[in-house]
Amino acid sequence: MIEKGERIAIYPGSFDPLTNGHVDIIERGLKIFDKVIIAVLYNPSKKALFSVEERIDMIQKSFLTHSNQDSIMIDSFDGLLVDYARMKNAAAIIRGMRAISDFENEFQMALMNRRLNRDVQTIFLMTGLRWIFISSSIIKEVARFGGDISGMAPHPVKCKMKEKFPLLMGK
Ligand code: COA
Repeated sequence: MIEKGERIAIYPGSFDPLTNGHVDIIERGLKIFDKVIIAVLYNPSKKALFSVEERIDMIQKSFLTHSNQDSIMIDSFDGLLVDYARMKNAAAIIRGMRAISDFENEFQMALMNRRLNRDVQTIFLMTGLRWIFISSSIIKEVARFGGDISGMAPHPVKCKMKEKFPLLMGK
């Protein structure tokens, strides 16, 4: 539940699926904000492996025993991100930055979002070094061919991936 006066941030993305890189950004966000809303985008133009419901379920399971569980909210949205942020009274949008290659696209999105709603600030957080090579796509690619993704995504994600890719190694 959100209390009056709390600093709220939205962490939007496809999360198809959640990776440890995303978890790292969420944990960094929790050090700055009272509440972080993980907002899964309904994006028909991006072909997803998991349905939005499956993605939300994996995220919920991944944070079930998290020490900061009460500060994390999980939701989905469609339409403009800035409209969703306004609806949630969020002061900020969090985006993770891995490498320079992320910058151009993120810069463009941040400027457009600022133009659309000047009340919401985009905050870029640096991903921990050990996650800079990770993306949802690369994890799916490795899993599809049976490679081990342990340590790259939370355990509930790995379990769900095993249902889609029976070749996937390990438990
Ligand atoms: N660590 C590891 N991987 C990360 C990461 C991190 N910290 N941050 C992002 N990634 C990866 C994701 O896994 C994903 O990988 P993939 O493309 O291989 O699957 C990739 O980077 C893209 O990240 P994602 O957060 O899913 O971005 P997106 O481009 O799908 O979504 C939104 C961006 C949701 C913010 C944007 O599309 C949006 O706001 N849409 C709503 C409509 C709108 O308002 N549009 C106008 C925006 S200007």
